[in-house]
Amino acid sequence: MTRLVGVIGHPLGHSISPAFQQAALDHLGLDIRYQAWDTPPGQVANLMLRLRGPEHLGASVTVPYKEVALGLVDDLDGLARRIGAINTLVNREGKLIGYNTDAGGFLRALKEEGGFQPRGRRAVVLGAGGAARAVAFALAGEGAASIAIINRTRERALALAEELRPVEAQALAPQDPGVARALGGCHLVVNCTSVGMRHSSTEGESPLKAELIPPQALVYDLVYNPPLTPLLRAAQGRGARTLGGLAMLVYQGAEAFQLWTGREAPLEVMMRAAREALERVA
Ligand code: ATR
Repeated sequence: MTRLVGVIGHPLGHSISPAFQQAALDHLGLDIRYQAWDTPPGQVANLMLRLRGPEHLGASVTVPYKEVALGLVDDLDGLARRIGAINTLVNREGKLIGYNTDAGGFLRALKEEGGFQPRGRRAVVLGAGGAARAVAFALAGEGAASIAIINRTRERALALAEELRPVEAQALAPQDPGVARALGGCHLVVNCTSVGMRHSSTEGESPLKAELIPPQALVYDLVYNPPLTPLLRAAQGRGARTLGGLAMLVYQGAEAFQLWTGREAPLEVMMRAAREALERVA
């Protein structure tokens, strides 16, 4: 029986997950199809019911369902429970288990591609949604000295900062006077908002004014399309080191691949297929 796995999101037009996951499955000769399941709101519970069938291995979960899906699984991995968002479903004998591989994917990209060790370092996280939660809990778990959360909606930043304690955590809105100080003294800035994403309403925009970008920090944008976002371009102009979002996308996908198949993910195959797919959708 051909097994199925796929990505649940809406809209899904520009997702490159099917391209790099299928390339990896084919490379290992596995009889598994990875499909794009563009699912309108209201249909997610139905789809997740079907995913408990024997032909299904699981799914990736993406925008805007990372928090909704959490309430529809049979069980949760401990990290996903703490983060409060899932990006991966695994079908274990008819039970759907929710995982968060964004946190692990982020850390691996940060360390391996960015050459950055979070222990004892001060970080600024832009955003307070599902991606920001995975990043903030990952940094806290690695022993970051402090984490400042800057988010358009202050309440969301406050809630996240509260949950991160006992790690020193601060919540800010973009217009707060403390923003310049937090950025000025940090070692790492991670953009976890969707601002600057191609094909979105904020295409061409940066989540930070250039003069606020700290030249001494690593500036990491989780947005992977375009590869050089307005934030990264501005950061380079300020002399900061930069890292784009493609490595994290592939690493979180590789961790999910291992959960579904029990096989080690062929990373180079995935990375190459992801780059090629990105050129096609650009
Ligand atoms: P994800 O699961 O990808 O993190 P999300 O939960 O919808 O998606 O979170 C998106 C993040 O981007 C949020 O922090 C959001 O800010 P709000 O909490 O104020 O909504 C941020 N964001 C999205 N569009 C934005 C914009 N135009 N300006 C500033 N922040 C934006």
